[in-house]
Amino acid sequence: GRIVASSVEQSYIMIKPDGVQRGLVGEIISRFEKKGFLLKGLKLFQCPKDLAQEHYKDLKDKPFFPGLIEYITSGPVVCMAWEGVGVVASARKLIGATNPLQAEPGTIRGDLAVQTGRNVVHGSDSPDNGKREIALWFKEGELCEWESVLTPWLI
Ligand code: TYD
Repeated sequence: GRIVASSVEQSYIMIKPDGVQRGLVGEIISRFEKKGFLLKGLKLFQCPKDLAQEHYKDLKDKPFFPGLIEYITSGPVVCMAWEGVGVVASARKLIGATNPLQAEPGTIRGDLAVQTGRNVVHGSDSPDNGKREIALWFKEGELCEWESVLTPWLI
């Protein structure tokens, strides 16, 4: 059926430091590109500690929080804003379960990762968090307003 503008969402997707170190950047970007989502923002970025803490603030009381912050700030990450119909839930499916041993084969974590604490990629868990996280990680002017000429064939 016809796609209404309100169903177009944005998700914040981030390749974590292990994904960058292991040379998985191209492979991971490729999966979102091939699915048919639209890349609106992309940068390689060394995350400061306060930003990592703000991003994961809902987890601040968890025992793994200090280790998580150390991991996310241990090297550059790739920050991305992806847009599309249902992109938030769809990206979570492409990424797979938090624990890579429980992630299905065919998902990014299922194919490429072993440990929860080294699960190579982040994806927003709701459209509201997609907006919040994109605003947190990207500055004014870092996102591109463009439309793919293929959009009418994809959605
Ligand atoms: P969470 O938001 O629960 O998972 P997801 O990334 O799938 O949305 O947790 C955020 C990150 O915290 C997760 O990707 C890896 C890390 N983490 C741990 O290191 N240990 C844990 O036990 C959990 C649940 C998460």
